Amino acid sequence: MRTKVISSTIQLEQIISACRSKGLTIGFVPTMGALHEGHLSLIKSSKEQTDFTVCSIFVNPKQFNKAEDLDHYPRSLKMDVSKLEAAKCDLVFAPTENEIYQDEVPFEFDFAGLDQYMEGKFRSGHFNGVVHVVKRLFEIVRPEKAFFGLKDYQQFVIIQQLVRFFNLPIDVVGCPTVREKNGLALSSRNSQLDTKDIPAALELSKALNLIKSRFQKSNLDALKKQAINQLEQHTKLEYLIIANSRTLSPIEKWSDAQHARAFVAAEVGGVRLIDNVEIF
Ligand code: PAJ
Repeated sequence: MRTKVISSTIQLEQIISACRSKGLTIGFVPTMGALHEGHLSLIKSSKEQTDFTVCSIFVNPKQFNKAEDLDHYPRSLKMDVSKLEAAKCDLVFAPTENEIYQDEVPFEFDFAGLDQYMEGKFRSGHFNGVVHVVKRLFEIVRPEKAFFGLKDYQQFVIIQQLVRFFNLPIDVVGCPTVREKNGLALSSRNSQLDTKDIPAALELSKALNLIKSRFQKSNLDALKKQAINQLEQHTKLEYLIIANSRTLSPIEKWSDAQHARAFVAAEVGGVRLIDNVEIF
């Protein structure tokens, strides 16, 4: 069966209702398009865990804090649809901005401190934009399960908080980061990288792996300094943070948390990249 592509909210709601009346469970994968194997791994998980998979493609202006970044964001709807078709995604929802936001009701949301650090701190207003669009998409699609990549770990934790805060009956599933063989985390932004900048881009995953492999043998501060040093030689480093995986607050010694992750954001050849890894 061909993958259906629609842009109308009303049409989407009709299709979802028809699925519900047949007793099918709905899996949802929100994206901004420029799809790669990372996105497609989410589609695969959704297909394994639910009966009917919906993928949305919407470059959400509200989550970009720089107009320039929004303008440069890659758009490739036709190619995306053929990738989704090959992945046997059941439905593609590619709405206009008006379609998404015209019926939005203003709301208050408590981030529970999860937006204080990292992307929340360095991209002011970013998570507000993410929460607005995902809440709206959840209202339209009303999935049983929604699939998010751990590549954007802070986003994943904030979406879990969104579901908790509004008591939404949605299971938020975190899926592992898909990487190139050389370690580079797949990202839509990688297409903007010049070939000569790839070695520098690899420094992000190298720094995270250094921390992961040495954490039992080294003091946190010394290891962090070493990783920062390495990153600063090759990239324009924005942050390297080791944080509690639940609260996302930075830790100063390994014993400060039961579960920790390392997070990095850096610019390489004018392209902003992020990555993170579980330490323990
Ligand atoms: P986008 O960057 O297109 O990512 C869509 C989903 O794909 C997110 O859940 C992201 O974490 C996941 N993803 C990206 N790269 C991945 C990789 N290498 N491995 C595994 N998963 C990966 O994230 C967004 O869009 C937007 O903020 C969105 C949630 C759609 C709201 O606008």
